[in-house]
This record gives sequence, structure tokens and C-alpha cells, in this order.
Amino acid sequence: MEIKVVTEDILGINTPAIIIGLYEDSKELDSVAKILDEAMGGAISQLRNGQEIKGSSGEFTLIHTLGRIPAQRILVSGLGRKNNFDLNTVRALMGNASRYLRAKGILSFCTTAYGIESGILKPVGCGQAIAEGAILGTYQFHNYRTNKENQGNTEEITIVSRESDLSGSLEIGVRQGEMIANGVALSRDMSNTPANDLTPSKMAEIATTVAREGNLDITILDRSNMEKLGMGALLGVARGSHQPPKLIALEYKGDPDRPKHVLGLIGKGVTFDTGGISLKPALNMENMKGDMTGGSSVIGAMKAISALKPKINVTGVVPTTENMPGGDAQRPGDIVRAMNNKTIEVINTDAEGRLILSDAMVYAVRKLGVSHMVDIATLTGAIIVSLGSVRIGVFGNNQEWIDQVVRTGNDGGERMWSFPMDDDYGEQLKSTFADMMNVGGKEAGSITAAKFLSEFTEGVPWVHLDIAGSYRMSVDKGWHVKGSSGGPVRTLINLALADSF
Ligand code: BES
Ligand code: MN
Ligand code: ZN
Repeated sequence: MEIKVVTEDILGINTPAIIIGLYEDSKELDSVAKILDEAMGGAISQLRNGQEIKGSSGEFTLIHTLGRIPAQRILVSGLGRKNNFDLNTVRALMGNASRYLRAKGILSFCTTAYGIESGILKPVGCGQAIAEGAILGTYQFHNYRTNKENQGNTEEITIVSRESDLSGSLEIGVRQGEMIANGVALSRDMSNTPANDLTPSKMAEIATTVAREGNLDITILDRSNMEKLGMGALLGVARGSHQPPKLIALEYKGDPDRPKHVLGLIGKGVTFDTGGISLKPALNMENMKGDMTGGSSVIGAMKAISALKPKINVTGVVPTTENMPGGDAQRPGDIVRAMNNKTIEVINTDAEGRLILSDAMVYAVRKLGVSHMVDIATLTGAIIVSLGSVRIGVFGNNQEWIDQVVRTGNDGGERMWSFPMDDDYGEQLKSTFADMMNVGGKEAGSITAAKFLSEFTEGVPWVHLDIAGSYRMSVDKGWHVKGSSGGPVRTLINLALADSF
């Protein structure tokens, strides 16, 4: 898809369709809508006054111009209430509108830059949101279809601005939005790819390409490196699989003057989770190909960060393995020793995510000098019970850092909700035979999982994002399409761009 910005008179533009926006709670048409309305002999205001156009969010009305202006159609899209209008409205609208037009075979079109002239939105942010919404909302994953004859995909979007001094800023935003969307798309691609192709070795290969293209340092640990480092928890999970485990570390050094200031992004990379010997039921098990979405989020974010080049150090760490019930698989009751020497009684082999993350987190702090951590994991079914697929569960050991991550997530539309971490919950992990168990029983499963992880933070500020509810979407909606959401890639990127820790 190509996205262009032009400064042009809206009445002079020849295009199959032009998108304009209308608020639900403002009777006045804005300046662009008014110009088009007059040229169309009042068609828009008539529909509006007759309540055929309400302006509610998600509403689309396609008006044919029948030669009155060079643009062949006007797509009037509802922006919802003016008070709720923000960049996420634009991002969602562009996804919905692009798919709406694509379904009618309209693959090139123009859009106005919503909210800029009124000053509600800044042009850089608006350009970025338009690009992200359009690219992510028309994302397709057709790698496994033999019948390639699909209807095609959106080819060209032109943002029309009436003032040339806004065009430059819109353009900067669009280019940033493209880099960010490409990172999200890479994560979606990995997450949608089935586990027979997306193995731990394949993840390492993809990360190697990202590193080469983005000039990142990369380290890939194999089984023997892990043995030397004492990563018994990660190795225990990997025992049941014929696929060798990998630990991938990507380092972006954007601020060499502050070598001790390093944002660490740690992503769970279980390329398939059968549960291991504590085998999962068959129903919906195919979705466990996405159990590496924390890891792909990190790789996607690192790709975008290497393109955006912010002045900050960011290190991504992805422990990756399958969780399989092979003949040498670990058993319930086995005790493993993590890299920080803590011993873990593996009560349930299906609680594998926390095991592989524990070694990765210790490695990130001790060997890579990470000073602030965010881990991202499809960790618990319990978070789906709590939050559904709407919000990401947030846990952590430092309120300021938690607040910052939650704010960043919510601002970008990757909505979050933070959970309590009272010490009492940690008591559920007490083991008769080892330092801790890897599960804490039926109650508060997402919190006890986070409590387990908190034993491996090595004293640095840490936030845990449980994305088991939000890594996968069941319908097309806004900038999301059915299939992998890609994970909170944009939040991770925005944390790096904000650098306010
Ligand atoms: N990968 C799963 C969690 C999951 C469930 C992700 C559904 C996405 C959708 C994780 O490894 C797991 O199996 N967790 C167990 C933990 C339990 C054994 C304490 C769970 O949630 O059932
Ligand atoms: Mn599991
Ligand atoms: Zn899992």
C-alpha cells in the first residue's frame, strides 16, 4: 500500500472515493464537509438533517457524486461524539473504512485529515494514525492459500490537506506510522504462522533478519549455552520437544552515553503449547500456535524501533521453545533450578510460560544490563476470564513504572488494566520440596503467575503484561482483523519513543 499526502482543493480531486467525517453531536458540518455539501446540492446536509446520517461511530454512508465533482464518491463516516474523538478514533475509522471500500472493489481512495483543521489533533499524530489504521486494518495473511485469486487489497491512499504547511507534518506522521505498522504486521505474520513452520529455530532466523536489516546486535543461545548459564527452567520445558530451544537477544543501542539505562522487553516464545505431560484438551488447542505472541511482539517492536531510531537503549529477549509431551519431557513433581539458583517444583507442565520467562528475565538483567523490564506473555487462561479480549492484564513491582506502561497502552488504544500484587497471593506458591511451585492453585491464577515471575526480577522495576486474552481477535474491528492482534507492539514502541523512566 502506498500512502501519499497532497495539498489540493478537495473539489478538484479525481478519485474513486473521498472519506470525510461527521460528529454525532455537532449539527454544523465542518469546513470540508460544507464545501462538498454545497457542490453536491445539499445532499449531505439533507441526509444529516433527516437523521439518515447520525454520525455515530462505525457508521458509513456512500454517496455517488454523479459527475457534480471529479471525486466519484463521498464516504461519510461517523466519528462518534466530539468529546471521545481522538487518535484511536482515526486509527479505527481508517481500518473500518479501508475494508468497507475494499469490499466494494475500491482499492484507491482519498481521505481528509480528520480533526486537524479544528486543532483537535496534531498533524504528525493524525498522519501516523491514518497510516497505522489503514495498513493494519487491511492486513491479510494469505501465505497458506493455494487459490491466490482474492479481490486484491488496498493499493493507494491519498491524504488531502488544504494547507501546505500541514502536509509536511502529516507526511512525517505517515512515514512513522508505516514503520510502526510494519513491526505489528511482522508480529502478526509470525503469530498466524502454524507451529510446523514457525519453530524456535525459525523465530531465531527471523530475528536474525530483523537484526541485519536494522543494524541490531544479536545473540542466539542454544541448548549448550543455556546449560552453561544454568537455565534449568527453560531447559526443563524444552525437554519434551524435538525442536531445539533458542534464546534470542536483540540489542538496539540508541543512547551509548547512558549504557546503564536500558529498556528490556522480554517476550514468551512458546511456538506451540500442548501443555506437555499435563496435556491440554483438544478443543481449540490449535490456537496455541499463538503462544509465542509475546516473543513476536518483541521482535516486531525491535524492527520498528531500529527503523525509528529513538535515542534510548532497548534490549529484546525472547526465550523460545515448544511445550511438547515427548518421551524425555519433564514430569509433574520434577524440580528444576533457574539461572538465579532458585528451585522450582513443576506441579503442572502446562504452566510453562513462567518457567521460560524466569531464566530470560534473570539473563536480561545479569548479562545484558537491562535496567527496566516489561515482559509480554500469553500467560494464563484466567486473564481471559477476568478481562476477555478487551484489555491486557498488568502486574508489576513498581507503581510508577506500572502507571507509565498502563498510560502508554491506553493512549494508543491497547487497553490495559492493572491487578493487585499483595504478598498473600505469593503464599499460594509455597512448595513442600523446593523454593516454590510453578502453580498456585485455582484462585487468582493470573496474579499467582505474576507473583511467580516477580521472584526473577533481580531488583529492577518490572511490569508483566498478560496478553492471553488479547493476542487473538475473533472478528475484524477497527485496526484489528480476525486472527493475531500482533500483541501490544505499539505500546512497546511508544515506551521506547517516550523514554521517560
Ligand atoms: N499458554 C497458556 C495460557 C493461554 C490460555 C494462552 C489460553 C492463551 C489462551 C499457558 O501456558 C497455560 O497453559 N496456562 C495455564 C496455567 C495453569 C496450568 C496454572 C492455564 O491458564 O490454564
Ligand atoms: Mn501452558
Ligand atoms: Zn503457554
